[in-house]
Amino acid sequence: MGTQSLFDAIGGLPTLQQVHRIFYDKIYADPWLGKFFAGHEQAAIENRQTEFMAEKMGSAEKYPGKSLRQVHENMYISNELVALRTSLLRESLEEAGVDDTLAGRWMRIDAAFAKQVVKSSVAEFYRDYSFAYKQRIIHPKPQG
Ligand code: HEM
Repeated sequence: MGTQSLFDAIGGLPTLQQVHRIFYDKIYADPWLGKFFAGHEQAAIENRQTEFMAEKMGSAEKYPGKSLRQVHENMYISNELVALRTSLLRESLEEAGVDDTLAGRWMRIDAAFAKQVVKSSVAEFYRDYSFAYKQRIIHPKPQG
């Protein structure tokens, strides 16, 4: 008997699609995170995230997109913003009824990639990400 991939254990694409629908509904509705996604079609973002996580969870399909670091290089993503996104992901996995152990494995994969997109400070962001052709996207945390 072979070892089952997380992708199969979790229920394959239908589960990924269900979780990502709930997750991006929350992200788009959030007064801070939602700002980063203004102008991006939610269904397209959900599909990309599903393709990405499917590959990382051991599906046979290869993720066709760009590297995460490249995609997020012009966004100022702080640890606090990542923590907010992580809490919405945890809620989404619970609401979708994903088993705790499998949800934990999902969250660990996600956390590993979050490290690639986070910037430690605005100063570092300006120093280490120098591109002439892209505008930097900085959304301060809304007050209140
Ligand atoms: C708080 C942290 C994050 C923010 C604010 C954020 C924001 C965004 C935005 C605005 C886009 C659309 C970019 C574009 O199409 O030009 C995007 C794309 C994407 N993000 Fe994130 N992201 C975050 C963290 C993550 C993490 C941790 C992952 C992976 C686990 C991830 C995976 C993706 C993928 C797969 C795409 C699609 C890339 C493509 O179209 O090829 N993101 N993100």
